[in-house]
Amino acid sequence: MSDYDIIVIGSGAAGLTAALNLAPHRKVAVLAKGALGGGATEWAQGGIAAVLEEGDSFDAHVQDTMIAGAGLNNREVVEHVVAGAPAAIARLAELGVPFNIDDDGAGWHLTREGGHSHRRIVHVADATGWAIQHALEKAAVANPSITILTDRVAIDFATGRHASDFSTSGAVHGLYAFNRGTGEVETLTARATVLATGGAGRAYLYSTAPRGATGDGIAMAWRAGCRISNMEFMQFHPTCLYNLVVKNFLITEAVRGEGGVLKHPETGHRFMPDYDERAELAPRDIVARAIDSEIKRDGLDYVHLDISHKNPDFVRSHFPTIYDKLIALGIDITKEPIPVVPAQHYTCGGVLVDIDGRTDAPGLYAAGEVSQSGLHGANRLASNSLLECLVYGEAAARHILKCWDELPETPAIRAWDESRVTDSDEEVVIQQCWGEIRRFMWNFVGIVRTTKRLERAKHRIDLLRREVQDYYAHFRVTPDLIELRNLVEVADLIIRSALSRHESRGLHYTLDYPETGAIADDTILVP
Ligand code: FAD
Ligand code: SIN
Repeated sequence: MSDYDIIVIGSGAAGLTAALNLAPHRKVAVLAKGALGGGATEWAQGGIAAVLEEGDSFDAHVQDTMIAGAGLNNREVVEHVVAGAPAAIARLAELGVPFNIDDDGAGWHLTREGGHSHRRIVHVADATGWAIQHALEKAAVANPSITILTDRVAIDFATGRHASDFSTSGAVHGLYAFNRGTGEVETLTARATVLATGGAGRAYLYSTAPRGATGDGIAMAWRAGCRISNMEFMQFHPTCLYNLVVKNFLITEAVRGEGGVLKHPETGHRFMPDYDERAELAPRDIVARAIDSEIKRDGLDYVHLDISHKNPDFVRSHFPTIYDKLIALGIDITKEPIPVVPAQHYTCGGVLVDIDGRTDAPGLYAAGEVSQSGLHGANRLASNSLLECLVYGEAAARHILKCWDELPETPAIRAWDESRVTDSDEEVVIQQCWGEIRRFMWNFVGIVRTTKRLERAKHRIDLLRREVQDYYAHFRVTPDLIELRNLVEVADLIIRSALSRHESRGLHYTLDYPETGAIADDTILVP
């Protein structure tokens, strides 16, 4: 059993921010289920939203966030996060993130994205996440108070129920994690645990999210007794590259922000003005549904995103990653349009937290995409996510340090028990179940929903749940099995949340309840 002051599960923007804020005062362990940079943070393209332009205001950023969130946001949280943005970005710059500078050299270059009424996005060309992840990693690795534990797959929290002196306190005292190097399950204990495991995009067949986005933290928190909220609000990014080989490459919204237009691939018609007066810069739920509608109506494989009318030097310098990636696939974006389709992109719901990042379980905090803080409401405004990671990573750390003496003491925790399981003789079951879930989630719980489709999905997930539980009870854990067990749990939470919402709001659009209700209420599932 290894004991730390605090364990942070996840090494993306939220986890590393929490760790760096804790490290001056406490010993911290940071877990990642693969390499340090395996989360969504490294893949972020567009940037981080903050009020930095002359004429912009916190009020306007709050207003834009609430409009995108279709009134479901918690205003106090939105104000808190928006106000924290400029300082959070300044701290990243101090850590060495080389944000692009404006042409006149007077300040950072701000790009524009959908739903924002001002230029507001600081960025490092179109590879902002890479620059942030590497600056945070460098600082964490250099910090002697931070122990980095890569290749550790968290399985479940160690709670009072796992203590040698059994207790029903509900408190979290650390976790059990599978060590990929040794093949053993380790018990890691701490006085506080910060959950920063990212989203659950891989519950869907098509997603821009990395392979590890299997909702592990959401499922773990649910099993530990925490409430989970707003899981029906799965965000679909309008413009993922359509390519038969490269299946999940994002084309940043900033391409539309800098003048890219969406066109019907056969007629060349620019269709977004037919759907919304903000055209390509409408919030992404509207743009994704418009593309979905064009594709379904005309039986298309994709639509076109075209920025070839802009100066080629401008395009190459603003979008070097996209330019290089696509040129290697035979598409020159300075001369021709990009085939795009919507794909799952962001999990708005998650583990319910308060303004300090506290969950329902004493000793457990959550920050970033794994959480539901009240910031995003029914639809996240572009580039507010990295911002949330930074503000909540810091908030959780601050609260842990302030309330250190009130946090539960760590009891002796029982070791992982493998006495009643054997090695699996049917790995094929895992691949089969995984594929099934992702396919029916895409087809039945996607951009446009109906009650009938959701019920079909519920029926299937109930069957798979029983199968996976049975498998888990009999066989030794592997990373794939851990992820599948979580994926089943999370898919079930998404379907149940979607079934319980009898209206269309933000990202949840159902043909059976097309109107938005008068009262905006969060969906809260209680274990
Ligand atoms: P992540 O960065 O996803 O990190 C999760 C961490 O948890 C990883 O270290 C992983 O190893 C670890 N982990 C997961 N499960 C386990 C487990 N079982 N055991 C141990 N460790 C585990 N947002 C913006 O604001 N601006 C953008 O421009 C932007 N662009 C994006 C582009 C793409 C392609 C994608 C996919 C997302 C984008 N987003 C953007 C969203 C944003 O990147 C993410 O919401 C954010 O990075 C999430 O950070 P996080 O720290 O919560 O989690
Ligand atoms: C993008 O660059 O389009 C993604 C921005 C985001 O997800 O906030």
